[in-house]
Amino acid sequence: TANATWGGRFAEGPSAIMGAINASIGFDRKMWRQDIRGSLAHAAMLAHVGVISADDEVAIRDGLAAIAAEIEAGRFEFSDALEDIHMNIEARLTERIGEAGKRLHTGRSRNDQVALDVRLWVRDAIDGLSGQIRDVMRAMADRAAEHAGTVMPGFTHLQPAQPVTFGHHMLAYVEMLSRDLSRFADCRARMNESPLGAAALAGTGFPIDRHMTAKALGFDGPMRNSLDAVASRDFAAEFLFACAMCGTHLSRLAEEIVIWTNPYFGFVKLSDRFTTGSSIMPQKRNPDAAELVRGKTGRLHGALHGMLTVIKGLALTYFKDMQEDKEGVFDAAETLTLCLAAMAGMVRDMQPEVGRLATAAGAGYSTATDLADWLVRSLKMPFRDAHHVTGALVAKAEGRNLDLAGLTIGEMQAVEPRITEDVFNVLSVAASVRSRTSFGGTAPDNVTRMAAEWQEKLA
Ligand code: ARG
Repeated sequence: TANATWGGRFAEGPSAIMGAINASIGFDRKMWRQDIRGSLAHAAMLAHVGVISADDEVAIRDGLAAIAAEIEAGRFEFSDALEDIHMNIEARLTERIGEAGKRLHTGRSRNDQVALDVRLWVRDAIDGLSGQIRDVMRAMADRAAEHAGTVMPGFTHLQPAQPVTFGHHMLAYVEMLSRDLSRFADCRARMNESPLGAAALAGTGFPIDRHMTAKALGFDGPMRNSLDAVASRDFAAEFLFACAMCGTHLSRLAEEIVIWTNPYFGFVKLSDRFTTGSSIMPQKRNPDAAELVRGKTGRLHGALHGMLTVIKGLALTYFKDMQEDKEGVFDAAETLTLCLAAMAGMVRDMQPEVGRLATAAGAGYSTATDLADWLVRSLKMPFRDAHHVTGALVAKAEGRNLDLAGLTIGEMQAVEPRITEDVFNVLSVAASVRSRTSFGGTAPDNVTRMAAEWQEKLA
């Protein structure tokens, strides 16, 4: 028998395979709240403009409330034959309230309906994720305040570069996450227009009020072109880019946690709560949560790529290809939710090994730049020459297995006769970080101030 919703011109129903490839209810049921929210706004508007009666609107409203309760309680029977969440809910509504249910779809198509539902879902996801990003930032700012003066090695090329502070390192991630937050906010602002009422693609002849439904659903206004409204998914791609970028930031910290917890580094200790053991090697403490944050970021990148690929070859307007927009969006939002929660937990729990960090901070001639800067300041030596002299001193110290402060003043003067005892004042790690007072630099006073600023902003 032909499809009950759209099968008027069909003699036969779809094959089982057609049904299987066509059905989206398995995943788009996640949008049931959004679907009902949209239908309530649409029905209220239809009644307001006189397209349906006030009685019909009341029946629709009560019917949808009852359906929401059924779904919430797990009593709703989702049907594959009804394809998607839109038709599942509409069919149940008609089953419950009869005629009025069949009038709900006046002046609307599943094309604008689904565009609306995905938009509402993404908007809700942005609000949830933004709160979580702020939570991770808060955890980092707290650790930064606590460890504003905790020195650690700063790296380039993963080689010892210059000493920095643990707090400064945490705040670098706070800055990155703050840009992620603003990317989500941008995306939200740009997507906050309603496609509802674009109908199938051309608009409708019914005297609908798209401004009214847009307002009721919290949009800034209706989308201005009906073709664009049903054909566009750039908002979803943008959302996925924001997810992928945020995940990428978390993944870089995750990578650092993996390195830091390696016993050869021993920079931080993760709590038992965020560590796992091995089924064979009793001594193991594996940073699985960090590894998974790093690994799951691959899914976020995949979702973005998938979305762009799905839409790149589509002529205007709607194609069923666009049904493939949802799973990547849902998975990305859920994956990022989990990654943010795991990162918040790891950051709150992890213990920087202050002593080891201090020792490591001084290793690898990390204050060589301070020595070169001293030559520039005290001897008025051009920086390029100072770099060369310092290089010679590093080579000399390295040859004897000493650090720079281990050289005698005589040994230094053999390389540059004008060097005085004062040079030893700049060779310690503490002096090095204390001197980095330029705006945005790692000096503990800077870090304390910046951490406090973030704590206040995030409170
Ligand atoms: N389940 C469909 C989707 O996700 C709803 C829109 C169906 N529209 C249509 N013309 N068949 O895209």
